[in-house]
Amino acid sequence: MTDLDTRKDEALSAIAAASDLAQLDEQRVAALGKKGWVSLELKSLGTMSPDERQQAAPAIQAVRAEIADAIAAKKASLEAAALESQLASETIDLTLPAPETPRGSIHPVSQVMDELAEIFADLGFAVATGPEIEDDWHNFTALNMDESHPARAMHDTFYFPDAAPDGGPASSSEAVGQTGRMLLRTHTSPVQIRSMMQQGAPVRLIAPGRVYRSDSDATHTPMFHQVEGLVIDRDIHLGHLKWTLETFFRAFFEREDIVLRLRPSYFPFTEPSVEVDVGYSNEGGRRVVGGHGDEEGHDWMELGGSGMVNPRVLEFAGVDPGEWQGFAFGLGIDRIAMLKYGMNDLRAFFDGDPRWLRHYGFSPFDQPTLSAGVGVRP
Ligand code: PHE
Repeated sequence: MTDLDTRKDEALSAIAAASDLAQLDEQRVAALGKKGWVSLELKSLGTMSPDERQQAAPAIQAVRAEIADAIAAKKASLEAAALESQLASETIDLTLPAPETPRGSIHPVSQVMDELAEIFADLGFAVATGPEIEDDWHNFTALNMDESHPARAMHDTFYFPDAAPDGGPASSSEAVGQTGRMLLRTHTSPVQIRSMMQQGAPVRLIAPGRVYRSDSDATHTPMFHQVEGLVIDRDIHLGHLKWTLETFFRAFFEREDIVLRLRPSYFPFTEPSVEVDVGYSNEGGRRVVGGHGDEEGHDWMELGGSGMVNPRVLEFAGVDPGEWQGFAFGLGIDRIAMLKYGMNDLRAFFDGDPRWLRHYGFSPFDQPTLSAGVGVRP
């Protein structure tokens, strides 16, 4: 046996004896690594004469190939064995309960906005939006509220400072041109103006969103939600308004016995103007919508304002009042959410208390749809 054969046999048995991948790698480095003995043998070929080299090379190459094959084979078998033992030791018990993951819930206001959109979409209404930071012109002037209108007063409306104190970008009349001072919109009605200016007539839209007034007590929060409705066409009249609101409230409250009362009122942007009341009764300390408000045990509750769009508003928005007319309404979303889902304190809506949300919130899987019902309960 040559010296080479002896060393090869030693290497092969060490490889066979390796009990894990780390040991196997040691053997690889010892034989085939840069300074491994096989590599040194190969290197030594360079110092031989061509004849000697021709003699010695095939044997060394063969040893190198045999050791490399042995290492590869051993590696495969070690890996297979490792997998086998992992499979044998790790079992997954599919009957164990899954770890609980905390789930958020949909705020009733968001849920009700989705319900609104769903019901009005079925009546052919699109959903429009506008900025919450509005300017004086869209929020008041174009809605026919002149400079002296009381709602324009500082104690009702959150205005932005007239100009940035550091001389930076100003929100002053000068900076915004014709549009006037910047403010937090006090109602969703400026979306009427923006939509008509953008798309002209006819119009059939709702605009749900946040509004702000400098007001805070048990039934008023400085931020609350409204949904605006606007229908402009050639011969829209108050009858359409009443039918639309009745149809909406029947679907929303899922009751056929909804009775609305349109009570004469005044808004600068509608003429005539009416306030919308709904009949309700008190059942076990809870207000339940339904029935005629003048019946025994019933009363009326105001849900919002509405009326025929004042021709001056159409003019401001660039729509010809000789050709077009229509109605608008504004409803308090928080109020109809409270009525439907039985909360009694408006302030709790915006406290962000997770316990309240867990109780009154909705599962993200309870998407309101007309076919499945817009009235899922928490
Ligand atoms: N914008 C009015 C408000 O906030 C409500 C309203 C909207 C009235 C549309 C008439 C028409 O009080």
